[in-house]
Amino acid sequence: MVGSGKRAVERCNLLGVAPFSDSPDFLYRPYLGPAHLSALDQLSAWMRDAGMTTRIDPAGNLVGRFGDGPKSLIIASHIDSVHDAGRYDGPLGIMLGIECIEALRGEALPFAIEVYAFGDEEGSRFPAPMLTSRVVCGQIDATALDVADRAGGSLASALASAGLNKDAFLDARRDPAEFIGYLEAHIEQGPVLEAEGLALGVVTAIAAQKRYEVLVEGVAGHAGTNSMSLRKDALTAAAEMVLAIEAIARSGSGDLVATVGRMSVAPGAPNVVPGKVVFTIDVRAGAEGVRDLAAEAILNAIAEISARRRVAASHNLVHDLPASPCDAALMDLLSEAVAATGQTPRRIVSGAGHDAMVFAKVTSAAMLFIRCKDGVSHNPLESVTTQDAELALDAMVQFIKNIGKRGNV
Ligand code: GLV
Ligand code: MN
Ligand code: MN
Repeated sequence: MVGSGKRAVERCNLLGVAPFSDSPDFLYRPYLGPAHLSALDQLSAWMRDAGMTTRIDPAGNLVGRFGDGPKSLIIASHIDSVHDAGRYDGPLGIMLGIECIEALRGEALPFAIEVYAFGDEEGSRFPAPMLTSRVVCGQIDATALDVADRAGGSLASALASAGLNKDAFLDARRDPAEFIGYLEAHIEQGPVLEAEGLALGVVTAIAAQKRYEVLVEGVAGHAGTNSMSLRKDALTAAAEMVLAIEAIARSGSGDLVATVGRMSVAPGAPNVVPGKVVFTIDVRAGAEGVRDLAAEAILNAIAEISARRRVAASHNLVHDLPASPCDAALMDLLSEAVAATGQTPRRIVSGAGHDAMVFAKVTSAAMLFIRCKDGVSHNPLESVTTQDAELALDAMVQFIKNIGKRGNV
């Protein structure tokens, strides 16, 4: 069989519904849930059809291997999704990796290729994203097993219910000396390529990100009897904090962004003044300095608002990734490969986080962006054309051949 970008898109569509989603109404595929495990079965079958051997590593990553050699080129992306997700954020990179193998069957390459389907890039189940690529790259320790999901279940128990042994979790780690490099293809998740009439982009760097969890504690009380002036309402305090976060991000440089994407209110009854609120903050910028100044301003604003409103506020830094530059030599090889498809190799910064950030710390990493409709992502309206997927596949295959020719693998 030959590789097909169209089939890659179709397979993402197939995985867009139950049993590959944990919801019958929208796509939600959190790490180690039933939909994730079903998707791994299906992906393993497709990998084996493409001539790969497969294994599930101790962190629940699916690894398909093709070819021989002491070193491997890693082609990877993630199979987990956000809540009410689109179909291509993550899976398309895996499907294109499998199609690369279909396209390269019969070629003698001086290295192996391993296609990884990572389990948890989004952090939509446990608080910190890129959990499973961080294990592979040795950037996590056993304390990770104690993180809890929103239902209070630990990672250790989630692993056990998926038939994995928590004591082996850290054994998913690989020796980076075995890698010759890392390639991730991903929809752009932004509007730049479409606006410029381009199908593909070569990522130069991925923005720095931090995530916090904030706890605001006021006093719960009767909604009818607590006069407005005496209340310690955790939700109205949190609401003011959210607007302060937005104002700080708006007043910063163009690539500074801050988001409160999740909030829970307790006790959560119409006739009770909210006593407790927990919310997340995600703050990102192309440069760590910009991100960190904004994060500091945000934490100061939270402290000021909580003091003035007489509620308690505390925060927890749950995730901190520096800006991650892609490898200059691989960017050149990828640009050549994109140019060979007849496309202009537009260089572009990624505001979205990717497992490539984790790999960039231990090996040479490259990322190929694919145009998506209206720049929409983390939304069921995500859309990519089969023509663009074909171009991406051609560029990836050419890139792999270019690496093979480079001779120093
Ligand atoms: C992943 O999609 C992220 O950027 O949060
Ligand atoms: Mn995503
Ligand atoms: Mn993604």
